[in-house]
Amino acid sequence: MSISETDATWWRQAAVYQIYPRSFADANGDGLGDLPGIRSRIPYLRTLGIDAVWLSPFYPSALADGGYDVDDYRDVDPRLGTLADFDDLVAGLHAAGIRLIVDIVPNHSSNRHEWFVEALASPPGSPARQRYIFRDGLGPNKALPPADWTSAFGGPAWEPVGDGQWYLHYFATEQPDLNWDNREVRDDFLTTLRFWSDRGVDGFRIDVAHGLAKQLDETLPSQADLDATPKSNGGHPLWDRDEVHDIYAEWRTVFDSYSPPRTAVAEAWVESHRIPRYASPESLGQAFNFDLLEANFNADAFRRVVEDNLALAAVSGSSTTWVLSNHDVVRHATRYGLPEPANPKEKHGHAWLLTGGVSPVLDRERGLRRARAATLFELALPGSAYLYQGEELGLHEVADIPAASRQDPAFFRNAGVEIGRDGCRVPLPWTPDRPSFGFGTAPAHLPQPDWFASVSVSVQELDPDSTLALYRRALDLRRRLQTDESLEWIDSPAQVVHFRRPNGWEIVMNFGSEPTDLPAGTLLLSSTRLRHRELPAETTVWLQQGAPSLPLS
Ligand code: GLC
Repeated sequence: MSISETDATWWRQAAVYQIYPRSFADANGDGLGDLPGIRSRIPYLRTLGIDAVWLSPFYPSALADGGYDVDDYRDVDPRLGTLADFDDLVAGLHAAGIRLIVDIVPNHSSNRHEWFVEALASPPGSPARQRYIFRDGLGPNKALPPADWTSAFGGPAWEPVGDGQWYLHYFATEQPDLNWDNREVRDDFLTTLRFWSDRGVDGFRIDVAHGLAKQLDETLPSQADLDATPKSNGGHPLWDRDEVHDIYAEWRTVFDSYSPPRTAVAEAWVESHRIPRYASPESLGQAFNFDLLEANFNADAFRRVVEDNLALAAVSGSSTTWVLSNHDVVRHATRYGLPEPANPKEKHGHAWLLTGGVSPVLDRERGLRRARAATLFELALPGSAYLYQGEELGLHEVADIPAASRQDPAFFRNAGVEIGRDGCRVPLPWTPDRPSFGFGTAPAHLPQPDWFASVSVSVQELDPDSTLALYRRALDLRRRLQTDESLEWIDSPAQVVHFRRPNGWEIVMNFGSEPTDLPAGTLLLSSTRLRHRELPAETTVWLQQGAPSLPLS
């Protein structure tokens, strides 16, 4: 199987698998995953049946924020490999029929980036400082921050540099925000996009895509002013400003200069009605929709999310995207095993909003059962599905990571009150064996729990009812059943959602805790084993109407 050189629409309904490279597979035995490790697992990716890999940052980084603090946008972290290893990975993936999306982090560099080092060594007002957002401090000796803003990870968002000036870091202190009004910054990112495109990268995931354009006057607003300013009309000083799309229009000319055009997907945490701007063909072309991830496990909520997002996709002409888990949120098997919060965003959104860690009332079995059902729902929807490494094993969040082993700045900047995102970033279990469950030959960089043995890849491969087996069957069927980007709702009982794709592929999901009637049709797949001619509680089935064109599973 090899990828088509001419298909410009491959991304529209792709199943994209996110790899967090430092936690996937460790080939050189240093406890940190690396590019040769990923290369060695291409047969696994191929058998899984995904269309593309999204690789989280693999660039040189001090890991102040898991690699989202980039020292050099056009190189590979030496602990993860070399540019030659990267080229080898691209070649290996392409030969296996898998495309590659890489992460671009344009809102901020790291404080070890040569530009920031130069900025610190240069005087206030110098061109080197213009690449970032520096301001004089307030009060005597400029000893007070220019504004009282809070960083996304907690604590202050302005840091003094010792000469009366302060710099903005909306995220960790080690992540100074770049100044996108600066032409040199803009040109350098165009160079970066060309650099990776020339190396065969098929697309880009754009980190914090809604944050680049900022409107900062001489007098800065207070945090209270920022909080009170609506984010819904493009007028907020920091977020989702309309001018951000001028930046992406320039990027678009780079993307479109390749054949097939390079794709991009925006990570933009913006109000739903603003999503089509990022997803439009003049801008990035596609945008994440996190609504499913944030929805409670509930028939009405899921149906509404699908309706809304298909309507939004129609506005931009893009396809929609579905996400249940990623490297920033509590794994969905765990979320679904916890009591439902009154405001789902409090728990289902960024894990740095999560307080108190994983609750002792977690029902692991129920969480996994619901997660398998939600995954079959997701994989049957029109549009692309973004999967996160380890969800195909039904992994739960790892809750019991000692404070001394934690890495996420969200944990440290909140004095341990917020649990942070390490629990979904623990290296994958490939086999039941210590020291690192087949991840590598050394203990992994985040501690792995004993229960990883029973959910490891090699154990699940022996079990036809395993979550891994379910994902493999679902992805294989999805590829063969894929059809027009539309669906038709079918009347169903209150706790059930039922829809049909244009080729007679039907999806029925029972959200309730009691079994219900199983509609007619040839059974293709079920998220739990069916014992009678009924649809069990918290289960999704795929049915085929009309002449069965596919073998049963
Ligand atoms: C995005 C990333 C997250 C990172 C943040 C700052 O939200 O997904 O992991 O911490 O941006 O770069």
